[in-house]
Amino acid sequence: MVSDKDFIQNEYNLQVENGSFQWSAPSNIALVKYWGKKEKQIPANPSISFTLNNCKTITKLSFAKKQNDGTFSFDLLFEGQPKEEFKPKIIKFFERIETYCPYLKDFHFTIDTENTFPHSSGIASSASGMAALAMNVMSLEKTLNPTISEEYFNQKASFLARLGSGSACRSIKGEIVVFGEHKDIAGSSDLFGVEFTSAVHPNFKNYQDTILLVDKGEKQVSSSVGHDLIFGHPFAEQRFAQAHRNLSTIKTVLENGDLEEFIKITESEALILHAMMMTSMPYFILMKPNTLEIINRIWKFRNETQIPVCFTLDAGANVHVLYPEMVKEDVLQFIKTELVGYCQNGQYICDEIGNGAVKYN
Ligand code: PMV
Repeated sequence: MVSDKDFIQNEYNLQVENGSFQWSAPSNIALVKYWGKKEKQIPANPSISFTLNNCKTITKLSFAKKQNDGTFSFDLLFEGQPKEEFKPKIIKFFERIETYCPYLKDFHFTIDTENTFPHSSGIASSASGMAALAMNVMSLEKTLNPTISEEYFNQKASFLARLGSGSACRSIKGEIVVFGEHKDIAGSSDLFGVEFTSAVHPNFKNYQDTILLVDKGEKQVSSSVGHDLIFGHPFAEQRFAQAHRNLSTIKTVLENGDLEEFIKITESEALILHAMMMTSMPYFILMKPNTLEIINRIWKFRNETQIPVCFTLDAGANVHVLYPEMVKEDVLQFIKTELVGYCQNGQYICDEIGNGAVKYN
């Protein structure tokens, strides 16, 4: 079994003076949700997600050798402009990964980052952002130690991304990714995401995700605070057991293409996530009236047309509308005529399953 000690890099050569890399990493949307974590983003239960294709972060990391004076040194640019507000998050990330990447203080970095989705759209950029940064750090590591394998590269990138934001570890590689130990998923780990390697039914090929932007405001409760509230939560143990069962079921569904069962698990998981928030102490609600309007419209449309479209939710008010590629035209028409009115400024983003991080140079 892989342990965190396997990711400590002690063999590296600091002869390289400077250089740069650029990676993109996508966002992901969980089907079985990760909610509740122990220290250092160790998940309380396993989760599984579709990797997205269009919603991504593109990050360029430039590095130049410096005197190792015991400090992290970097400039941060967001869309080409200095962004001081993002710096504490990066410092925290560097602190968390330093044990595994002891070379970080030997370089000055320029981190130049941008998202393909609108800024503050309510789409979490932490998953794609941390994944893109982790891939760049691994490119640096490979420069310092060219012997590392591709498998180690990706596994450690996912491990590092997890230390930034738990769900980020599912944004590295593969169309469907499992995070957290589960008896039915060989090699699954609480330390990093693993690609779902079963043969996936053609129903799920190019599965579509149209993200309806219901509310772009700041979340009133961060997901970190939310994760912590699961401990001492009266339903926690039941929830963790249920996530294990749902992951077993969805594994079978992804193999056999049973869309009816897929819809049941996916929608139920979304509502459970929000039910856990509503029943924690303190309690909170992230859905908005329009979130519920949209859910009801989707249910009505599905009943009337038998088109297998369903929803899922993240820790926010936006709605992810999930459907097979073969019904794309009908669902997009439905979204344009019936759902756009519930979106803030009529905004929505068309996405679909993608394959993970991509190196630009
Ligand atoms: O990665 P975090 O700590 O922001 O957690 C996100 C958790 C959910 O998005 C609510 C669910 C999930 O599995 O992605």
